[in-house]
Amino acid sequence: MRYYENLKNTAENRLPQRSFYIPEGNAKYTLLNGIWKFSYFNDGDDIFDEKGNISEIKKWDKIKVPSCWQLLGYENPNYTNINYPFPVDPPYVPMVNPAGVYEKTFTVQSEQKQIYLVLEGVSADAKVYINGKYAGYTQGSRLQAEFEISEFVKKGKNTLLVIVHKWSVGSYLEDQDIFRFNGIFRDVYVLERPLEHIVDIDFHTEDNNKIVLKTAPGTEVSLFDGERLVAEGETDENGDIIIPVPNAKLWNAEEPYLYMLELKKAGEVIYQNVGFRTIEISEKNELLINGTPVMLKGVNHHDSTVNGYVMTDEDIIEDLSLMKKANINCIRTSHYPPCPRFLEYCDKMGFYVVLETDIETHGFLRRNARMPYVYDIENGMWPCVEPEWKDSLVERMARAYERDKNHVSIFMWSTGNESGCGDNTIAMADYLRSRDKIRLVHCEDASRALIRWQKELKYATDALNEARMLNRNIEAAEQRVVRAEHWLKIADEQQHKFDVFSMMYSSPAEVTDWCDGNGVDQPVYLCEYAHTLGLSPGDIWEYIETFYKKSAAIGGCIWEWADHVVLDDGIPKYGGDFEGEITNDGHFCVDGMVTYDRKWKPSTYEIANAYAPIRVEYKEGKLLITNLYDFVDFKDRKLSFTVYLDGKKEDCGDIDISIAPRNTGEFLLDKVPQKSKYGCYVNVVLSDKAGNSIAEMQAEIPTVKENLIRENGPKVRYTEDKNHIYAEGRNFKYTFGKKSGNIDSIKIKGVEQLKSPARIGSFRPMGDNDTHYVKLWKDTDRWQGENIENTFIHVYDAKIVDGSIVFDASLAGVSRTPYCRYKLTVTVYENGEAVFDFDGKLKPDSVWLPRIGFEFDFLKKNAPFSYYGLGPQEGYCDMCHTGTVGRYESTAHNEYVEYVYPQLYGNHMFVREITVDNAVTFSASDVFETTVSEYSIKRIDDAKHISDLGESDATYVRIDYKTSGIGSHAVGPELPEKYRMNDRTPKFKFSLRPEK
Ligand code: GAL
Ligand code: MG
Repeated sequence: MRYYENLKNTAENRLPQRSFYIPEGNAKYTLLNGIWKFSYFNDGDDIFDEKGNISEIKKWDKIKVPSCWQLLGYENPNYTNINYPFPVDPPYVPMVNPAGVYEKTFTVQSEQKQIYLVLEGVSADAKVYINGKYAGYTQGSRLQAEFEISEFVKKGKNTLLVIVHKWSVGSYLEDQDIFRFNGIFRDVYVLERPLEHIVDIDFHTEDNNKIVLKTAPGTEVSLFDGERLVAEGETDENGDIIIPVPNAKLWNAEEPYLYMLELKKAGEVIYQNVGFRTIEISEKNELLINGTPVMLKGVNHHDSTVNGYVMTDEDIIEDLSLMKKANINCIRTSHYPPCPRFLEYCDKMGFYVVLETDIETHGFLRRNARMPYVYDIENGMWPCVEPEWKDSLVERMARAYERDKNHVSIFMWSTGNESGCGDNTIAMADYLRSRDKIRLVHCEDASRALIRWQKELKYATDALNEARMLNRNIEAAEQRVVRAEHWLKIADEQQHKFDVFSMMYSSPAEVTDWCDGNGVDQPVYLCEYAHTLGLSPGDIWEYIETFYKKSAAIGGCIWEWADHVVLDDGIPKYGGDFEGEITNDGHFCVDGMVTYDRKWKPSTYEIANAYAPIRVEYKEGKLLITNLYDFVDFKDRKLSFTVYLDGKKEDCGDIDISIAPRNTGEFLLDKVPQKSKYGCYVNVVLSDKAGNSIAEMQAEIPTVKENLIRENGPKVRYTEDKNHIYAEGRNFKYTFGKKSGNIDSIKIKGVEQLKSPARIGSFRPMGDNDTHYVKLWKDTDRWQGENIENTFIHVYDAKIVDGSIVFDASLAGVSRTPYCRYKLTVTVYENGEAVFDFDGKLKPDSVWLPRIGFEFDFLKKNAPFSYYGLGPQEGYCDMCHTGTVGRYESTAHNEYVEYVYPQLYGNHMFVREITVDNAVTFSASDVFETTVSEYSIKRIDDAKHISDLGESDATYVRIDYKTSGIGSHAVGPELPEKYRMNDRTPKFKFSLRPEK
């Protein structure tokens, strides 16, 4: 066994974890970030000679610290989700285990002081030498390690050498769904401190009127509110002090008010932010912060940038500022403690943080090829139950707790992710309970087990009833019930060691059920939901509505904040793109609600509006405005309204009212129109006092709308030949195909508009949610097996009847029977209006469809267009709560959304009219959906990287009856029925005409 495989000895000389701070005053802080000497060993064991001494290192490179070596040319990156990148044979890791040796010199000023080395993050372990002498060892990649090095250093120049292996036994606890990177990826520094300095600082507030603090005896303590000294005192001989703060201003995520503690001892000064807040669970299972119910509108955050795990302060501030813009108020630090300064910013900027420790053992689930997808901890072979893992697990929880215990933003601790729940997990919870009487404790795996055994007991009981009825196999069925009862009891006990019932990817219906007390008696929290892989989630709005309906629903955290990629010559790459990835999970890592470079995606806008603290409704001349803040009154914000009639401003003004949190206020709109051409809407903007917009909401003012189809005047006279029917007027000539069953050519003032005949189709580029992730593993067929990506159109009959062209036709996938039979009637008027009337019928057993509508390929590249509909953002039937209905101008290129894995984009909802290239206008009496894209459906669907899309060759316009919703089925629940294009007899009428 090699030293890094010894589960009994995962650290040496590492100091007990203390709270995070950087001492000032006479302490000296030397940050060692910068250029280091580096030597990479393909086999890390070669670093040592037979006697275990470090061999002479012949070749030194230079490396930047902090960094991840896979991004600097040492080894290829590897992205894997559940599968471990090595066999599951703990405590062993592969025989050939690469390693990097890091070396840096630093200067020490005085020999008198106590001197420490702090490593904030190193993957997967660190063996430390000072001036050639072994000084200590640590594992736990995202946990801080501190060594006292006083006895190894001398005044003046010193040499620090760190050996970092790619894998250690700790890697079994770090199976997070992320690129597996290595190196010193967080700050490294030396602290020179006076004797008798403060070690740990441990404080919390109680009853919102005092601070209870423990640190070194004889510490001078002052509390400041801004510049103002509020209280001062000194810790007693046990290091304790209670600082009364009557009438303290309280902290919450909306108004994060902080005080400052100043601690002085032995010439050092340490500053710590303090916030006052209480945390409780109400009788109704609400989460109360300072006695007020709070809704968690959260997101999961990985420390991940184009530099791997490295997060600079700028990166942190950028992430947190963007989250604020997206109206996020809660962060789960998935699945490990973040870089420590992250939490300082969370305190300051206002977020409720679920602090998760650095543990995930998901890969144990896949250690046997034929294992069902359940956590079989019952067989006793998981780190959460195996006694030899206990110390490691508890230690990881303790280190996270002890580092971060003073942050007001943290309201809940989490024992890790996807690691099962067993005695060792309970021991972690016990540790937390012994140290923290205020915050909540979370373990999703406990809840997962509870539900699993509840379900199993139900199935087992049903099976027993059936066995009794048939008088067959009764004994086996009884045993199954006994087993389920046994495990359910354990699961139930374990769940009640935690404070919230936490699940991932449950449907709104399940959430409702649990909140109603069916099998669950605790607050319901979704630690992951609304998965944002590709174009997703379509269901965020519905989740939020569900949460607000149920007091026991305390909210959840979207999976996840940002895409993870590795840039290769500017092209974002993902799992499987790199040589040597033995196991990988493809593009499953590009599942962020923002891009890797923190640009907003369509989903970001949708989430920002779902999370917005305002809702608006219009009812009989009144605006009903709901304040969804938990603490802020709308009198401390700005509200304004604008009424748009047919896209033009009709009326506007300020809304000067006070609406208390979670209350609805009324505002009268005096003159509202009764009639419109396109529609009438009122937009309400909520902004801060400085005028920065927080959200814009829209409500429709019902009006009598015009029919935009000009079915008037005389019809044209058609001519026909073998394959075509022609319709010609003053400035147009249309050609219809008897084989295409559609319009083949649109000539306006003699200029051809179309590149190819128009088509009716049902396919759209597949979005990530169109296939469940588990199915992706199995590589099953596309679009539910109907092969509609290659649709054949068969025209049985094409004739002219009473001034209209009537096609009798069908749509079919290759090797399948036709899934849709339809009649298309086209009537052309002398005014140029060509009215398309589609009357379809799906075969009885047809699957539901991605969409149904018309496709027009315009010759013009990057055509401009103008529309009246929901914009400027794209929308889908379940994802249309951002943007506003109005008049917009755009171009094909402008619609493109750069997904790392190209897919569906660009649909617009509630469209009444669209004019393409100033040449052809499509309109309808009702609303339709439209997409204008510079790439064909096939081109997008075939592309696997942005670079596969190539140059645009036309403008592809879809005029759709309906397209299906988006959901979040890649990982979450199936798309609900109501959002599926499953009309059995779709009827769709629209017109096209020349734009003068
Ligand atoms: C969850 C897991 C996350 C991530 C997500 C899928 O099961 O906790 O870490 O893998 O699924 O993107
Ligand atoms: Mg996982």
